[in-house]
Amino acid sequence: MQPDNERPHVLVTHRLMDGGLDLLLDRYRVTVADGLEDPAELIPALTDVDALIPLLTVQITDEVLAAAPRLKVVANHAVGFDNVDVEAATRRGIIVTNTPGVLTEATADLTWAALLAAVRQVVPGDAMMRAGAYTGWSPTLMLGADMARKTLGVVGFGAIGRAVARRAAGFAMGVLYTDAGEPSDAVSLDGLIIARGVPLDTLLQQSDFVSLHVPLTAETHHLMDAARLAQMKPGAYLVNTSRGPVVDEAALVAHLQAGGIAGAALDVFEREPAMAPGLAELDNVVLLPHLGSATGETRRAMAHTAAANAHAVLLGEEPPNWVNRQELLGKR
Ligand code: GLV
Repeated sequence: MQPDNERPHVLVTHRLMDGGLDLLLDRYRVTVADGLEDPAELIPALTDVDALIPLLTVQITDEVLAAAPRLKVVANHAVGFDNVDVEAATRRGIIVTNTPGVLTEATADLTWAALLAAVRQVVPGDAMMRAGAYTGWSPTLMLGADMARKTLGVVGFGAIGRAVARRAAGFAMGVLYTDAGEPSDAVSLDGLIIARGVPLDTLLQQSDFVSLHVPLTAETHHLMDAARLAQMKPGAYLVNTSRGPVVDEAALVAHLQAGGIAGAALDVFEREPAMAPGLAELDNVVLLPHLGSATGETRRAMAHTAAANAHAVLLGEEPPNWVNRQELLGKR
């Protein structure tokens, strides 16, 4: 075995699920930091790093990459990679990878949990019970809305959007979708449900529940702004388990305060962990701390996937989830 200081150095910015990094531990010098997020602390730690495994909360800017002359791979511990300046990484010849696939079902489950909680007043109901404020059954207590046979609109029809749509079969819902990447068409999901592709305007006007599953890019930033929110039905609910800045959060607060839609369920926020003023005071929103992929099995699989990506690059092989493959290979 190589002496420790000759082995490639893998820096993991936060503690991950137990067992997730096993693949790396005997092979490399692995440093697991206790929350390395502040650039003032991250930058000096990068001088001898060959592979970096950051959380989605760590901003991997050009300045950060410039401080890592040996860096070969940023193996993001997330499917989203808007925290990484991919263009700068590509310019510097650094591979960027993500963790698709392993978190699809967990995130779709959480999306439905959030939607159901919002529509059926699960959170106020629980609070009432804990406060000892339940005085007995009433025909008008905490009324929600029916969900069966309504219309679900899925914005962004990648793996997670499709998994969310598939679950609508159990509610006998109609499903509409929009997706930038493909022509709008009817898609059968495992024979369970037919999703109909429509323009975003139509989806917003016709859906009872709108769920966002797009990556955060310059095009999707504030996709749901005041004008788009105003297109939704008055009785509709908005769910966001994608990225906070896809929704103009201040506009959403204003729209909810004005009674524009029935409610919202948010797992992500524009300036996480902060929330827009007024959001927490609204009683028709469900607010969750970015729990989309938060199951033990999924988080272990995410760590394992990030580790496998880093390991492949350090071996000189193609990583399984190479985000900037085309751009980097095109440069060579
Ligand atoms: C979670 O938000 C992820 O991108 O994995």
